[in-house]
Amino acid sequence: MTEQIVKEQVAIEIKNLSKHYQKENSQMTVLDNINLTINKGEFITIVGHSGCGKSTLLKMIAGMVNIDAGSIEVNQQPIEQSNEHCAMIFQESRLFPWLTVSENVGIGLKHLNKQEKYEKINTYLNLVGLKDFENAYPKALSGGMAQRAAIARGLVMNTDILLFDEPFGALDAMTKIQMQNEVLRIRQEEKKTMILVTHDIEEAIYLGDRVVVLSSRPGKIRDIVPIHIDGKKERTHDQFISYKNKIHDYFFEPHRDEIEFYI
Ligand SMILES: Nc1ncnc2c1ncn2[C@@H]1O[C@H](COP(=O)(O)OP(=O)(O)O)[C@@H](O)[C@H]1O
Ligand SMILES: [Mg+2]
Repeated sequence: MTEQIVKEQVAIEIKNLSKHYQKENSQMTVLDNINLTINKGEFITIVGHSGCGKSTLLKMIAGMVNIDAGSIEVNQQPIEQSNEHCAMIFQESRLFPWLTVSENVGIGLKHLNKQEKYEKINTYLNLVGLKDFENAYPKALSGGMAQRAAIARGLVMNTDILLFDEPFGALDAMTKIQMQNEVLRIRQEEKKTMILVTHDIEEAIYLGDRVVVLSSRPGKIRDIVPIHIDGKKERTHDQFISYKNKIHDYFFEPHRDEIEFYI
């Protein structure tokens, strides 16, 4: 009974997942034996160096890249059977320049009639604060506004899961902080399962309920760090800084075994 309830709370279950790519005459392992269970409504952030397989992992969850070994289940179903469970938001907004903001946001809503489509687009343009720009073209938007439109386009699809692939990597520092707050606000309203990959440790802690730390290629899980901060999650909070130091050490300090080896 207990197990049944727990299983129903699981949004994504990744078991013994590995991925290889062919590189010249040999195989390159990109992800090595990833095991991760993500609960419904959880915000998971994944942090790792460039090239460690973060995008590959997200694409595999989205069903865009084949699995070589292991499995991924979404709502207890192998992902092959349900490829419409995720919406993905990328580093670049990927808006079509010849379509208005509202046409871009509604691009995936072909199955709805005009009125339903209008209402949905309106709801999400309001949610991301772009209602006044519904008829604007992407060239009139700042980087942050274009990313808001991309988020609205992801939300409008009404999927259970939202995947973010370094969505704020190209934004300036101030806009980035603004967008992170925006995502947290949207999360309060939408209650979706969210996974965000980043190489920004502070962003990972600020957004994540748990931070998954990946090693350099081949990406392996080095640690999964649950983030618990007493009171408001502020970047200046002592506990926030402790998490930052802990995760920072995974990337920039010699591994403990190596330290022992050198002593
Ligand atoms: N379709 C592909 N074919 C061959 N190699 C790939 C492909 N996609 C990614 N790679 C390689 O896999 C590694 C991980 O890529 P990626 O998942 O994009 O890393 P990250 O997002 O962490 O920077 C890189 O070395 C990249 O060159
Ligand atoms: Mg990437």
